[in-house]
Amino acid sequence: MLKEICHEGVYKNYINGEWKLSNTGNLIDIFSPIDGSKVGSIPAMSKEEVDEVILTAKAAQKEWADVPLIERAKILNKVAFLLLDYQKEIADIMVVEIAKDITSSLAEVKRTSDFILFTADAAKQMRGEMLSADAFPGYGKDRVSFVNRYPLGTVLAISPFNYPVNLSVSKIAPAIVAGNTVVLKPPTQGSISALYMAKIFEMAGLPKGVLNTITGRGSEIGDYAVTHDSIDFINFTGSTEIGRHISKVTVMKPLLMELGGKDAAIVLEDADLEEAAKDIVNGAFSYSGQRCTAVKRVIVKEEVADELVGYIKDRVRKLKVGDPRKKDTVIVPLISNEAADFVCELIEDALDKGATLLLGNKREKNIVYPTLIDNITEDMRLAWEEPFGPVLPIMRVESTEKAIEIANKSEYGLQSAVFTKNIDQAFHIANQLDVGTVQINNKTERGPDHFPFLGVKASGMGIQGIRYSIEAMTRVKAMVINFEKK
Ligand code: NAP
Ligand code: G3P
Repeated sequence: MLKEICHEGVYKNYINGEWKLSNTGNLIDIFSPIDGSKVGSIPAMSKEEVDEVILTAKAAQKEWADVPLIERAKILNKVAFLLLDYQKEIADIMVVEIAKDITSSLAEVKRTSDFILFTADAAKQMRGEMLSADAFPGYGKDRVSFVNRYPLGTVLAISPFNYPVNLSVSKIAPAIVAGNTVVLKPPTQGSISALYMAKIFEMAGLPKGVLNTITGRGSEIGDYAVTHDSIDFINFTGSTEIGRHISKVTVMKPLLMELGGKDAAIVLEDADLEEAAKDIVNGAFSYSGQRCTAVKRVIVKEEVADELVGYIKDRVRKLKVGDPRKKDTVIVPLISNEAADFVCELIEDALDKGATLLLGNKREKNIVYPTLIDNITEDMRLAWEEPFGPVLPIMRVESTEKAIEIANKSEYGLQSAVFTKNIDQAFHIANQLDVGTVQINNKTERGPDHFPFLGVKASGMGIQGIRYSIEAMTRVKAMVINFEKK
């Protein structure tokens, strides 16, 4: 069934309930980061075609919003179960298209199915309210306000390469269950995985025009799409650079943005160091560190630093490097050679400035071996920049106050982790950290997906997380009844 979306290696876009090639005939070839083999081709759509797709979504929105919520939720439930039926097929595409190890790819599809089921339920729990005027001085009981939430209209969903299925659906599902229609712009490297996902929505019986896809380089069609008059909301996940660009070019357009991160793991002198090391290594190196919530720096009290680093080093050296098609591979090829170049640039800068290489700093094409660097100082780029790769910098501090100062000095504010046995101290520190989420005694991570997920400062604006996402893509409308005065 899923093969219908492809003709002779060229994948089609899902537009108004049909699978279409681009009239331009322009294609973008997608090559696997694993071995450079061709995965397929996607249409490079023109702005005229993007315009048609957006207008199609706009035209379908009112009718979709009139569909009873229970019916919208039932379609989502069908999508969730169909995703599981095609879990292996979709995961296998992700493995070759974005080099995500098979274990993580299968997990992403399962997580997405769970996300959808939770979203369908959460939508049914959404509540409005009724307010009586007499709660305010000078008013009587002859005036009441009925307050409810309504869909915003047409949502432009833009997703990143590292979760092409989950971070597309984390926008699509809350949007459509709330009565919006969606235009999805998937990542170029990840588009094929996203198109497979879109097919599942069609198979579940989603009416035409409710979900539509546009493929093409964001640098070519992105500005046109985000500034289109018929787009009522932009739900973006990606780099801070692109997020800032989008917020500059859009005027008065509501935005939800989840951007870059430089999540710190703060380890205090009373922490369970072996447990902390396990969480830190998992958090820093899964999917080769290509996660926004990856642990991207360790800030550790000097008195326990040697012991902690020893535990971390023992774990890092055991990480399996290589082919993502093999179950226990953790360190996979990075998404591109350019990505690997950037990671190596940051490593070299740190070593040139006197940092201590403990493991790694080895590269084979776009595989960067897990790299552990100690004695990172504030003059080094690795202290502040987001490598989005398998490198873990260790910063040593003399005091907890210094740890908080360095953690907050980052332009990013996604998550931080605090490792300590003293819960009072954990809350005291958490209260001072300028981030969206503080994990106490755990690695930084987004799940479970009904928790609020947000970034502050350069890490984004607005809140994701199932109920939060539904609220973000709806608006309040009040209806005030003025009864006859007695
Ligand atoms: P990216 O380069 O910013 O791309 C993200 C998406 O934006 C892609 O679909 C991209 O399309 C599109 N895009 C590019 N230029 C655009 C423009 N001018 N207008 C509109 N859309 C445009 O990010 P990525 O490389 O895919 O992902 C890695 C980055 O995303 C990292 O910084 C990571 O921290 C961040 N991220 C954050 C979260 C979070 O939840 N906070 C989650 C995942 C990733 P193309 O692919 O065609 O360029
Ligand atoms: O980078 C993707 C971001 O959403 C992280 O998700 O679940 O890996 O923490 P997770």
